[in-house]
This record gives sequence, structure tokens and C-alpha cells, in this order.
Amino acid sequence: MKGIILAGGNGTRLYPLTKVINKQLLPVYDKPMIYYPLSILMLAGIREILIISSPEFLPYYRKLFANGADLGLKLEYAEQQKPNGLAESFIIGRKFVGSDNVALILGDNIFFGQGISKLLKNACEQPIGANIFAYWVADPRPYGVAVLDEHKKVIGLEEKPEKPQSNWAVTGLYFYDNQVLEIAKNLERSKRGEFEITDINKTYLEKGQLHVNFMGRGYAWLDTGTHEALLQASQFVETIESRQGFKIACIEEIALRMGFISLAKFNKISNQMSPSAYNEYLKKIINEFESQ
Ligand code: TTP
Repeated sequence: MKGIILAGGNGTRLYPLTKVINKQLLPVYDKPMIYYPLSILMLAGIREILIISSPEFLPYYRKLFANGADLGLKLEYAEQQKPNGLAESFIIGRKFVGSDNVALILGDNIFFGQGISKLLKNACEQPIGANIFAYWVADPRPYGVAVLDEHKKVIGLEEKPEKPQSNWAVTGLYFYDNQVLEIAKNLERSKRGEFEITDINKTYLEKGQLHVNFMGRGYAWLDTGTHEALLQASQFVETIESRQGFKIACIEEIALRMGFISLAKFNKISNQMSPSAYNEYLKKIINEFESQ
């Protein structure tokens, strides 16, 4: 299974924050936003990941993660010339995906909740079809929305409906089998001129191969596209981290716990990092491992 993080876009709703910087490089409390979706792919066990962003900002992501070796990952980078839609990921990433299955996560989506690793691994293990995640939100109008029958079976998908037929929003995390490459290749632009991920999901639905996982209210799904949402996401992360003393989306910790890197390597990363609260946390993890 390969992974793609889509981290381009214009971020117009966050203007002027995004006047000179790409949205996914903005801080969410104590780390850049892109750490959160990256951590989700890592928790799913995915180690070959393509980061897609605009030509202007791709160098920043390279600087941030290089080839991923420090995290035990294999990272590649690709340009999206313009925000032509989420489904363009599979046109840009066609060669990278090759003959594998692939997960796509949007660079501004944050997931948190007990049991998420298992949920992700189950989705990864499904060999055929698509696996997407729906989450109950008070206002689903800005999202793709699942239409359900009386047995809670998904019978349709609507993109940004004015009058949504349910509160189940489709989140920015999608697992597909290799058919997605052909489906994406044959897509036509929507009325708003984009290659729509909802059209890919509809194709799977028509084939009877769309599996929708309903994420219960014990999970948090945050997107960070508006000023309020960005602040709320930071506050959420700060609250949980201060209370528990564990970090959300500490990618070095995840790499260590997933067995992607050794403790010696983790130690080296910490030693090379300048002193900070973040590095203090890494040192705490080292103590924990050494006393085991
Ligand atoms: P959006 O929030 O739909 O778009 P945006 O980030 O450009 O923000 P705004 O609406 O304020 O202008 O995008 C969702 C995510 O997908 C976000 O992480 C950016 C990314 N994206 C791309 O990388 N390429 C694209 O073509 C699109 C549509 C989105």
C-alpha cells in the first residue's frame, strides 16, 4: 500500500495567513499541520509516501522531511501546477502508485481517537474496492455527504450539497485499490472545473465496491480550513497533550513505536535537534524505552 498526502491548494479562506505560505505548513499548536496527516499514514503502516504540493512550496516540504529516511520512510515529491481537484492526485501520482493499492489523505485533515490504528489497518488490508470514512458533523454543507437508506446503507454521495440529505460528511482519508488509477484517468472536470474525489467514490459505489466506515463520536475529525477551525484544532491538540503528557502526531515517536526506526536512530535525531519542548518530549520517550 502506497500513500499520498495532498498538500497544495490556495487556502483562500485562511487569507492573509496563506498569502506567502502554504496552508499545510502553518502550525497546529506545536508542529506543522502536515505532521498530522503524515502520522495517520504512518499509523496505517504505510512507508512509501508521495507528497504533492504546488511548485512554489514543494521545496519547503523537501526541507522538512528530505527523503524520509530519518523516519524510516521513503518519501517522494510531486508538483500540482494548480488546485485542479483532489482526484488529480491519482493522475499526478500514477507512476508512483504503480501496481499497488493507495491511500490518499488531505494535508489539512486531523484525526484522533482510540482505536484509530486498527481502523486504518483494517482499511489497508481490504484488497478490493474503496474504503472511505464518514463522520457526523453539525454542518455537512462544505463536504462530500453520504446519502443513506433506512438501513444506514450508503445509496448516494453528494458534493457540497446546499440541502444535505444526512449529517455524514466524507472525511479526507481514502483507501483505494489499483482501479483508482484508471477511474481517475477517465474523469471529466466537474461544473466547478475540478477533478472530484466524489466522482471516484461514486464509481466505486456503482460497482458495489464502496465501503463506508462510520467514525463514531469518540473520534475527532478536524479540518483546518478556516481561522476558527485552525484555532480550534490548535486548542484541541494543546488540551489533550497538556492533560495526558502524550503528543499527538509526534512523527519520530510513531516511527519508533511502529518499528520503522531503531532507538539508536531516535536518539540520534533527538541529539541533533536543538533544545525545545518538542525535544524534551523525545528525551522522555528515550527514558521510557531505556527503562523497559
Ligand atoms: P480545500 O480546503 O478544498 O481548498 P484549499 O486548501 O485551497 O482552501 P480554500 O478553500 O480556502 O481555498 O482543500 C482541501 C485540501 O486539499 C487542502 O489540504 C488542500 C488540498 N488540495 C490540493 O492540494 N489540491 C487541490 O487541487 C485541492 C482542491 C485541494
